[in-house]
Amino acid sequence: MTLAYAEKVFGKINVFDLINEFGSPLYVYDEETLRLRCRELRNLLKYPSFRVNYSAKANTNVELLKIIREEDLDVDAMSPGEMYLEIKAGFTSERIMFIGNNVSREEMQFAVDRGIYISVDSLSQLILLGEVNPGGDVCLRLNPGIGAGHHEKVITGGKKAKFGIAIGDLPQAQEIAARYQLTITGLNQHIGSLFLETEEYVAAAAQLLEIASALPSVKILDFGGGMGIPYRHGLEARLDLEKLGRELDEVIYNWVKNNRPITIRIEPGRYVVAECGAILGMVTAVKNNYNTDFIGCDIGFNTLIRPAMYDSYHEISVVPAQARAYAEYDGDVYLVGQICESGDILAHDRVLPLCREGDGLIVHDAGAYGFAMASTYNSRPLPAEVLIQCDGKVRLIRKAQTLEDLWPEK
Ligand code: LLP
Repeated sequence: MTLAYAEKVFGKINVFDLINEFGSPLYVYDEETLRLRCRELRNLLKYPSFRVNYSAKANTNVELLKIIREEDLDVDAMSPGEMYLEIKAGFTSERIMFIGNNVSREEMQFAVDRGIYISVDSLSQLILLGEVNPGGDVCLRLNPGIGAGHHEKVITGGKKAKFGIAIGDLPQAQEIAARYQLTITGLNQHIGSLFLETEEYVAAAAQLLEIASALPSVKILDFGGGMGIPYRHGLEARLDLEKLGRELDEVIYNWVKNNRPITIRIEPGRYVVAECGAILGMVTAVKNNYNTDFIGCDIGFNTLIRPAMYDSYHEISVVPAQARAYAEYDGDVYLVGQICESGDILAHDRVLPLCREGDGLIVHDAGAYGFAMASTYNSRPLPAEVLIQCDGKVRLIRKAQTLEDLWPEK
């Protein structure tokens, strides 16, 4: 990304106008970008029996979920909380899939009571579902023994990942299903998060199709999510969706020709929402300690944990409080937050525009796993979220918490 001072977020709205009205830090979403990403994925395959399940763990703001529903995506859920929010956003039960991990009997019952399709990811959870809902349908989450992802913490397939039923345990899963008259109508997998090349995903999809050949009751195959976005602007190429679609279509059509019609699902989270979100913040203090420049700001890892947790990279723009000539730091710069931990680092070892107290900041591509992973650590209330609508108007879609929210009175 060529560095220059910025003024507007998404090239649309003045940063200080938003901060003055809604406070700082602030999550801002762009409806146009969200709809664009939804449509790209809806059109991924030529194969007609195809659904996109948005993986809502990336962002569960109900107003964003409503837009995603309007764009004809379905959803997955990881918890009763996510199912609750999805139902609030207008998703009917058939459009929700519960892909839990180590869930309790009560949580499984929550989904069964609402007629929501359930994927289980261990033999133990399959037995539990058999007890809760004998005679029902079930999807099995398989661990194909291969994984991929941007950081070891987000690789969800493979021999050391906690997810999924090992392929060798399939015969046992069939036995358990038969014992409880459960019909295995689906298979799903998710090998990991953030791929920008297609090979591993397509190979894993082909393997899942292969497994389905031997299971005639299976009508739905869910290949999982993980589609990445180029966080490093201008340096990383976009995931080639056209190529991904073509390669997936090829393996699917070939399989269908020799087997039977089947419904295909994918389950992207990040790709849908990452780029439509940004965080606005303010520079609160600057200093140079022992030859290192520290820019202190109000975006700590309570607001965005990805850099601290995975050393993730987000582009940063600086908005000068008063117009001035462009200048850069030379040498290492640390952009840090307000949290009482030395790991509270938003960006390190990179060239950044020179900052002064009172400047504004834009953290780009923060729509996925941003607010969803935010916390009130150090007793800092959660920030507000606003939406820049397609008509250019700005709408508050979640109020900022207040100090009173930190201890709600009974
Ligand atoms: N399906 C399942 C079963 C998943 O576990 C996940 C993500 C997804 C779909 C969606 O993956 P996506 O398309 O968003 O890559 N907090 C991390 C990412 C954790 C992903 C966990 N599972 C981050 O900020 O990079």
